[in-house]
Amino acid sequence: MIGTGYGGSVAALRLAQAGIDVHMVEMGMSWDTPGSDGKIFANTKSPDDRSFWLRTRTKQPLSSFLGFPIDKNVNRYTGILDAEDFAGITVYQGRGVGGGSLVNGGMAVTPQRDRFSGILPSVDAAEMYSKYYPRANAGLGVADVPLDWWESAACYKYARVGRKHAERSNFPHIFVPNVYDWDYMAQEAAGNATKSALDGEVIFGNNHGKKTLPKTYLAQAKATGRVAISPLHEVTSVSPASGGGYTVAIRQLDTTGGTVATKTVTADRVFFAAGSVGTSKLLVKLRATGALPNLNGEVGKGWGDNGNVMCGRANHMWDPTGTVQSAMPSTGIDNWNAGGAFAEVAPVPTGIETYASLYLSITNTPHRAEFSWNAAAGKAELSWQRAWKETSIGMAKTIFDKINKKEGTIYRTDFFGGTKQWNDSLTYHPLGGAVLNKATDNYGRLHGYAGLYVIDGSLIPGNTSVNPFVTITALAERNIEKIIATDL
Ligand code: FDA
Repeated sequence: MIGTGYGGSVAALRLAQAGIDVHMVEMGMSWDTPGSDGKIFANTKSPDDRSFWLRTRTKQPLSSFLGFPIDKNVNRYTGILDAEDFAGITVYQGRGVGGGSLVNGGMAVTPQRDRFSGILPSVDAAEMYSKYYPRANAGLGVADVPLDWWESAACYKYARVGRKHAERSNFPHIFVPNVYDWDYMAQEAAGNATKSALDGEVIFGNNHGKKTLPKTYLAQAKATGRVAISPLHEVTSVSPASGGGYTVAIRQLDTTGGTVATKTVTADRVFFAAGSVGTSKLLVKLRATGALPNLNGEVGKGWGDNGNVMCGRANHMWDPTGTVQSAMPSTGIDNWNAGGAFAEVAPVPTGIETYASLYLSITNTPHRAEFSWNAAAGKAELSWQRAWKETSIGMAKTIFDKINKKEGTIYRTDFFGGTKQWNDSLTYHPLGGAVLNKATDNYGRLHGYAGLYVIDGSLIPGNTSVNPFVTITALAERNIEKIIATDL
């Protein structure tokens, strides 16, 4: 198993339960040992060496605050959040045992069923909604927002302001389930538990409260006694072994990214679960360099950013958003059908009153990029163009131009460097690159090689209409069930 994110964790658990030994190889750290401050994870407000993957300077998604740049120098370390730069876009990803579950906002959204055929047209939607989405939600520990508490909780004042403005402009407002332990958050708010979400912890890890994969699927997988995990090990190659199965080349890393050792192992079957970017980069390299020449021409294609764009709005003085803001978003504005945008109401957990409303929009962008191998440079490249984000901004504006007009407010210009109103340079939601039923068959079996599978976000062609991890998990549940029944 290459990678320990959502797809990898589901596959490892189900394979182990079927009596199959699994070895998971993870390039990031295990994140189970406290640092010198007694905490495993750094705080969002004070990034340190633990925060970023092999960078010497932080690259915060909100690069300025009140107009002042906030990035700072750090020591190069195998930290938890990778801000991976391609020519037209920075792709944020979790690094460590648990993948993106370590750094994400926990928003656990099942897409509306009538939108599903636009996401994965070759998959039986009835089966997904009756069986695999419920299985994924249960496995992840997804829970609804406790509404009575939410209505009066100080830490969701920002979300209630977001709801008020959405409703005053006649947009559907929805609550979004989360994997954070709501009881724990209520205890944080009451002053009875060590603060995590209420201390702004999220993108560099949560020391408490969040049900990450190491607490759910991976804990169950380990309990079978059939799953071994090797952190700080990166898979660099997979090729057919002479005696059958596959030879997997692995590089062991130290915490500065240096090579400690190179190893090869043989596996009967290999699952690519390195995430959309990790799997796509590996596969285009292996096809181009002759390790897996029979991979088809679809490998690398169909990559999208889930239409992510961010903006902030400046509220009037009578609409404060609160000094304590839960780092776990709980609500969204759904204008998908009319305007192609679904916006989550995001926190600005600075600890001071900012009068800001921040939004991450997911938009119905048609743009798709392709990964390819640049032999001269010795690296995979992505054909994304920055200008494509204009389409997404246009869709997000169907919500926020209207709200600004109604409220008499304006966009904030102090969050994204210079006087930019929109963050058009990143995604949190990379999807595609080894699309289901194109690069693979309809269950993730890679064309050209028996025993090679893709089981992560690269199967999904660029967009899920909402935050993606529940769909990645549900699709993995579906595919691994079929693979176990028919291939093993
Ligand atoms: P994932 O990226 O989780 O796991 C892949 C793993 O493989 C990683 O641990 C990586 O280190 C490892 N790997 C890569 N290459 C390797 C190699 N060559 N060898 C060994 N290991 C390798 N989604 C959502 O639904 N709700 C939300 O609230 C959010 N919020 C959010 C915030 C932030 C800051 C980020 C960065 C992302 C989100 N997401 C999110 C997105 C979500 O986390 C993401 O879609 C999933 O983690 C993707 O799951 P995968 O299983 O595809 O890969």
